[in-house]
Amino acid sequence: MSNINTNNKTKTNIAVLVSGRGSNLQAIIDNIGNKNIENATIKVVISDVADAYALERAKKHGIDAIFIDPAGFEDVSGYEQELLKVLANYDTELIVLAGYMRIVGKVVISAYKNCILNIHPTLLPSFKGLHSHKQTLNYGVKVSGCTVHFVDEGMDTGPIILQSCVPVLENDTEDSLSERILEQEHKIYPLSIKLFIEGKLKVEGRIVSVLK
Ligand code: GRF
Repeated sequence: MSNINTNNKTKTNIAVLVSGRGSNLQAIIDNIGNKNIENATIKVVISDVADAYALERAKKHGIDAIFIDPAGFEDVSGYEQELLKVLANYDTELIVLAGYMRIVGKVVISAYKNCILNIHPTLLPSFKGLHSHKQTLNYGVKVSGCTVHFVDEGMDTGPIILQSCVPVLENDTEDSLSERILEQEHKIYPLSIKLFIEGKLKVEGRIVSVLK
């Protein structure tokens, strides 16, 4: 299957899903602000955590910031239906997960096939899931990094768009490693979004090619 974003209208509408501090959200806002990413607008930031600092960042930039409380729904599918409604209200075309601590379920994935991006702070397929930095340090690998990928129904398993590596140092802590990796995240996430918006990502099975 091949999928290229062939959006011809002026701006691609982005929804960013968050749960926490939102440093990746900030990097994306900044890259749109300085025109490194053109033809895109963040229409809404949605959080599943009421006091996520990412919501404050959104508000500071005049972006709608919405908290959807998962506890307010009987099950995941109810929550996802509400999420879909909000995404549709904002004419969302691209969903960017930026520190969103929930698995995106079938309902949303099938509505947005190959239009959901995620960033994970390891070189996938190593160290999927939670506590990535701890997993990395405990395993003793000498190189780590981050991965931007399309989201599929697995956990951190979708087709890989870009990766960037950093050394793991002998005296690294989870914090120091995380800091070194975040610097790279803030580069490759905006770049991946830019490529998506420019229609330069071609997906065939697991393989993502970057078109010239
Ligand atoms: C990042 O390390 C990202 O890779 C992971 O969650 C963290 C979110 O950080 N998915 P922030 O909220 O963007 O600062």
